[in-house]
Amino acid sequence: MNARVLVLTGAGVSAESGIPTFRGEDGYWRNLDPAKLATPEAFAKDPGLVWEWYRERRQRIRNAQPNPAHKAIAKLAQHAQEFLLVTQNVDDLHARAGSPKGKMVQIHGDIFVTRCSRCDFSRHDYQHESEDIDVPRCPRCEELMRPGVVWFGEQLPCEELRRVENYLEDGPCDFVIVAGTTATFGYIIDWALRAIASDGELVEVNPEETPLSQSATQRVREPAALALPRIVDELVISRSSKL
Ligand code: OAD
Repeated sequence: MNARVLVLTGAGVSAESGIPTFRGEDGYWRNLDPAKLATPEAFAKDPGLVWEWYRERRQRIRNAQPNPAHKAIAKLAQHAQEFLLVTQNVDDLHARAGSPKGKMVQIHGDIFVTRCSRCDFSRHDYQHESEDIDVPRCPRCEELMRPGVVWFGEQLPCEELRRVENYLEDGPCDFVIVAGTTATFGYIIDWALRAIASDGELVEVNPEETPLSQSATQRVREPAALALPRIVDELVISRSSKL
């Protein structure tokens, strides 16, 4: 398929796999707002509570399955001549649906990574995580370990940021799909608009209006698992026939 594509996803894409979004009603955990739990301040105040929330989320993600939205994006990655997926999701559902690591950037980190809050020690805790330990300590420096995700107010990871910038600098995109995100962060809006440049298509898949809606050339007000398989099939067929 002769196209250069950028896909930006958020929590709404995993909603139909049973992973609560951040800002929806079901995002609350024990009456606590995730926007207040996912912060360095919350961790400093009560690391045990923050870890408990993340452990529950890890468990929920382990038990979840990729949905047709994740699979459609993996299919697009396979067919598009040039492709990058930038996800704000820290779950592994895009990867399990088949999106290749080399064409995916997890800009807010990976929930299964546990890293030291002081030194650069980190490990991947998918299977063997010490679920029984309230707050794990770094085996190297004894400092508290934290989940390998980006919290509110923290810098985006340099390497991931560089990969997004490189892709944008390499040229404009024919298609940008923004799915399941409130697009509250300025950088998500900026990347989408830079990628379409002057004449790319911007497809928004979200049951609700977002700050990007007014710039979208196509607004699809449907759940991602319903809309994305159809959008991807249409795109693959129409762009392949133009070759
Ligand atoms: P949000 O929870 O803010 O927004 C979810 C979006 O998905 C909303 O716009 C919903 O309308 C939409 N939505 C819900 N169900 C959907 C469905 N089935 N199909 C399509 N869209 C659906 O999640 P994000 O925008 O991803 O960051 O949030 C961005 C970041 O804020 C997260 O990565 C996290 C959070 O705080 C950090 O922790 C740094």
